[in-house]
Amino acid sequence: MAFFSVNTTLINFDSHRRTMQLKRPWRVKWPLGLCLCFLALDLADRNSSIAYEQANTVAGGETRAKRPGYVGDDACMPCHKEQALPYGQTSHHLTSQPPSQASILGSFKEGENILMIENPRSTDLEPRLFFKMDIQHGGYYQIAVAEKGSQRLTRSERIDIVTGSGVRGQTYLYWAGNELYELPASYWSDGNQWINSPGYIDGTANFARHVDPRCLECHATYIKPLSSDPQTNVFDKGSLVTGISCETCHGAGANHIAREKRGSAAPDGATSSAILNPVRFTRDRQIDLCALCHNGGQLVELKPAFTYLPGEPLDQYFAVDPADIADRPDVHGNQVGLLKKSSCYLSSPSMSCSTCHNVHRRERTAAEYSDRCLSCHRWQNCGVSQTLGSKIAHNCVDCHMPMQETSAIVSKTANRILHTSIRTHLIKVYPGEGRR
Ligand code: HEC
Ligand code: HEC
Ligand code: HEC
Ligand code: HEC
Ligand code: HEC
Ligand code: HEC
Ligand code: HEC
Repeated sequence: MAFFSVNTTLINFDSHRRTMQLKRPWRVKWPLGLCLCFLALDLADRNSSIAYEQANTVAGGETRAKRPGYVGDDACMPCHKEQALPYGQTSHHLTSQPPSQASILGSFKEGENILMIENPRSTDLEPRLFFKMDIQHGGYYQIAVAEKGSQRLTRSERIDIVTGSGVRGQTYLYWAGNELYELPASYWSDGNQWINSPGYIDGTANFARHVDPRCLECHATYIKPLSSDPQTNVFDKGSLVTGISCETCHGAGANHIAREKRGSAAPDGATSSAILNPVRFTRDRQIDLCALCHNGGQLVELKPAFTYLPGEPLDQYFAVDPADIADRPDVHGNQVGLLKKSSCYLSSPSMSCSTCHNVHRRERTAAEYSDRCLSCHRWQNCGVSQTLGSKIAHNCVDCHMPMQETSAIVSKTANRILHTSIRTHLIKVYPGEGRR
């Protein structure tokens, strides 16, 4: 996915060739003998971006109408508390947020706010690089500090968007004018620590990685790109609607609400609820809705981001990347591709993601999903039931959908390599998972 694989342009403090391959807005080449020269440049950028932000930020991350017919989650609350109340706790809802003490999980406390790449106190190691996370004037900043001999280069950018609910971690984005970039330091839940953003080159301070529309299509409800280039990072900032909302999966809600408020005696005699309910889609279209974001991201875009409507065939929007059909199913984000290969799915015409998941509620623990398996299977039919007995009834998942390490989320930080594991959705017998 873009987050982990984007081609990098680096500001490489590690080399004498100090490369600057990016086009804008930092077209300047840094003369070797100069330090702090770009700080002034930065500040100019940042001030303008602060002013713009204040005029446009959507307070509290709540949605407001940005596209015709879209009303935001608050509008559904009065009539759908059963879905809307628990939904506020889900990873979907929290997957992007405006920055705040509560939304940023990484620590800004003295002593916990430094990501040390090369320790500046060790005089023999050159160059030295660290990142400092700082709160200034109510804003949250990442500051890169590089020292080489007597030179000291710093660069500071403000966290403007938080991505990731924090199950595994969070990555932060910043605005430079209308252009959106990823910040070099991310938060890693395992160990509650700051790390180099996944895919970034250890020992560099890279502020130049573009954030494209697809990134936000998977992690937010809406933003208006200002170019049709799928790789653009230029957006109408004020149009951002953070979090995945009800209308991402149900379509625009204004007509539905108008209809329900009028009561069932609709003058046009319409019987439809004027809102999409995926339960009425064919199975393929149900799966397509989740596949928009859970298909590994290795898809070639045929239409612009944010144009997909639930219920439509996804293959009109994306073509399969031939490099991805090879038989190396990465477990990262590819729940759809893996489930489709499972014999449960192949042999059960109505099985979908909703057979196990209720997306309106927080995830349950893996073992609790065993009740879903038992809606189709009997534990007595499992090959190990004879030897292990009825206790297997409470945890089908760890043996048949084990956690597997993914190579798609990897951070190289200060000479350590951090991996993570993801629950595979290829349901089958895993040799070696029989002796627990
Ligand atoms: C004024 C009350 C009201 C509001 C506000 C409202 N709904 Fe509904 N909604 C209803 C009622 C009543 C039904 C059940 C009757 C029906 O299906 O027409 C319903 C049904 C639904 C269904 C099932 C439709 C079907 O065809 O099975 C979905 C999905 C839905 N609403 C989503 C939403 C979303 C999303 C929002 C916010 C954008 C929303 N509703 C706002 C009253 C409301
Ligand atoms: C990630 C996609 C997704 C999101 C986000 C989402 N829903 Fe749903 N919703 C579904 C699916 C899928 C179903 C059908 C579930 C099933 O198969 O039983 C559904 C069903 C419903 C229904 C019909 C329930 C019934 O029993 O008939 C309502 C009402 C509803 N959703 C409201 C909401 C509201 C309100 C929100 C936001 C707070 C929301 N949904 C967010 C995917 C979503
Ligand atoms: C618009 C993109 C999008 C769509 C559509 C979508 N998801 Fe997700 N989903 C995500 C993202 C992004 C995450 C990771 C959220 C995070 O932790 O920041 C996620 C996480 C999840 C999780 C893990 C939740 C957790 O708490 O760890 C489940 C389960 C899930 N999605 C199921 C579904 C199902 C089922 C559907 C289809 C009904 C669906 N999703 C549709 C983007 C999407
Ligand atoms: C194709 C959809 C897709 C794209 C594009 C995408 N992501 Fe994700 N992202 C996901 C899903 C789905 C997950 C949940 C983990 C999983 O299932 O692999 C996730 C996980 C994450 C997480 C960890 C969330 C958590 O709570 O642990 C972060 C942070 C993240 N993505 C940031 C980004 C950023 C930043 C970009 C763009 C630069 C991006 N992603 C692009 C779908 C996507
Ligand atoms: C919608 C019904 C359904 C659900 C839910 C379901 N399965 Fe299946 N599963 C099947 C069918 C049908 C088959 C193929 C016939 C058979 O082997 O019984 C199958 C096959 C299997 C197999 C044999 C796989 C192989 O490659 O030979 C395993 C193991 C399995 N399921 C485990 C599970 C587990 C564990 C769960 C819960 C996480 C689960 N199933 C959920 C219907 C289901
Ligand atoms: C047979 C049951 C079953 C089906 C069907 C199923 N899942 Fe899952 N899913 C699980 C279980 C069990 C977990 C682990 C939950 C946990 O660890 O708390 C899980 C976890 C996830 C996660 C979080 C993965 C992680 O490691 O963080 C995502 C995302 C997800 N499912 C998406 C989907 C999507 C999309 C579909 C449809 C293509 C789907 N699931 C179908 C059982 C299922
Ligand atoms: C301790 C690990 C473990 C647990 C727990 C477990 N299984 Fe199994 N399961 C296995 C192994 C190993 C096999 C293959 C046994 C063999 O071939 O002799 C198997 C085989 C199966 C099969 C395929 C049977 C066949 O011959 O086609 C199904 C279906 C199945 N398990 C379902 C389940 C369900 C449902 C649960 C939860 C109630 C469950 N298993 C719990 C390890 C486990």
